[in-house]
Amino acid sequence: MKATTPAKPASNTGRRILLGLTGGIAAYKSAQLVRMLVKAGHDVRVVMTEAACRFITPVTMQALSGQTVWTDLWDPRVADNMGHIELSRDRELIVVAPGSANFMAKVVQGLADDLLSTLCLARDCPLMIAPAMNRQMWDNAATQRNVSQLRKDGVLLAGPAPGDQACGETGMGRMLEPEEIFGEIEAFFQPKSLAGKRVLVTAGPTAEAIDPVRSITNASSGKMGYAVARAAREAGAQVTLISGPTALATPGGVERIDVKSAQQMFEAVKKAVARADVFVAVAAVSDYRVVNAAEQKIKKASGKGMTLELAENPDILAYVAKLPSPPFCVGFAAETEKLVAHAKEKRARKKIPLLAANLAQQALGADDNEIVLYDDAGEHPLGRGSKLEQARKLVGHVAAMLKRGKRPA
Ligand code: CTP
Repeated sequence: MKATTPAKPASNTGRRILLGLTGGIAAYKSAQLVRMLVKAGHDVRVVMTEAACRFITPVTMQALSGQTVWTDLWDPRVADNMGHIELSRDRELIVVAPGSANFMAKVVQGLADDLLSTLCLARDCPLMIAPAMNRQMWDNAATQRNVSQLRKDGVLLAGPAPGDQACGETGMGRMLEPEEIFGEIEAFFQPKSLAGKRVLVTAGPTAEAIDPVRSITNASSGKMGYAVARAAREAGAQVTLISGPTALATPGGVERIDVKSAQQMFEAVKKAVARADVFVAVAAVSDYRVVNAAEQKIKKASGKGMTLELAENPDILAYVAKLPSPPFCVGFAAETEKLVAHAKEKRARKKIPLLAANLAQQALGADDNEIVLYDDAGEHPLGRGSKLEQARKLVGHVAAMLKRGKRPA
């Protein structure tokens, strides 16, 4: 092995990351994490504590990262014994996964008794920790004190999650899955193009009550709206998400307001919109509601059909776009046919500067999507990709339009 292995040049989108592993059974997940990071074009230098080496070997991490793995503060291969400074000097982010309770305590105290804790103390880049520990260790008052001190010190925490633990117990402390930590890292590196902006997003379906146990709703999963809320948050915005009924988790750092009907969504938007710089209407709002919904469960009248009388719901997006001083409005259109014609007509009818259109049959419930943006300059296809990727591109487009000073049409 050579004395030092120069870092491979990072690709255009690739970042220089130092991945630290401390002792924990979740270390096996870090093998997958390093693989994902390298595959995405990132340059990953791995540092392992002695305890981490008892769970997974440096050889595994070396093979997957394609670089020398560092484990020893006194490694004679480092020419001037300044490894603790050099190893993190050119890095843009240090990620410690798994991060043990002991390691977190050391960071809080500023202890530097091994290579990883020493280079964390000597770092000049942000530190992200993915905690991994038994639930009682996590719940312990000492760990909780350390968690709040780490946050105060600006250390980013990715997780932990609740669930089954390797020790057989169930509770908080499980390390996030490699895909989730990868997502946190990607989020960290997103351009902060909406910093200082307040973004209001509607998402999901609405449900219009027929009686207390029945409603008219639609097949929207809410995934696209939640992805937009997440992407806006990643871009540095303060985000409020007004959501119809979904089974989705609230994106980190996003304020969520739950509603059921279109009328409730309208009221919630009216309350929140005055503070918004950008309004993104992703919700599949029901165009109609049931007139005189029954207060008690409707009983079946056998042999007879049933007619529901429907009244039109307010168009929330059109209302916001018509305000005297509206936020920058973005509409969505999910169409089953004639995408271009419908999208252009909808953008003009709602008088909004930007409309995102997609085919409903491709998008409904799916994890990926293919959006085309329509604005004054014409159409901008975003290509096919995950809803989060599409949302990030949409947010980038909105930020660029805001920068150019585009206000509502
Ligand atoms: N929208 C809204 N309030 C409504 C209906 C729609 O805010 N009552 C918003 C949606 O969130 C979306 C855009 O308007 O951003 C387009 O929604 P869509 O249902 O496609 O448009 P409609 O005007 O209802 O047209 P149609 O249903 O006839 O296609």
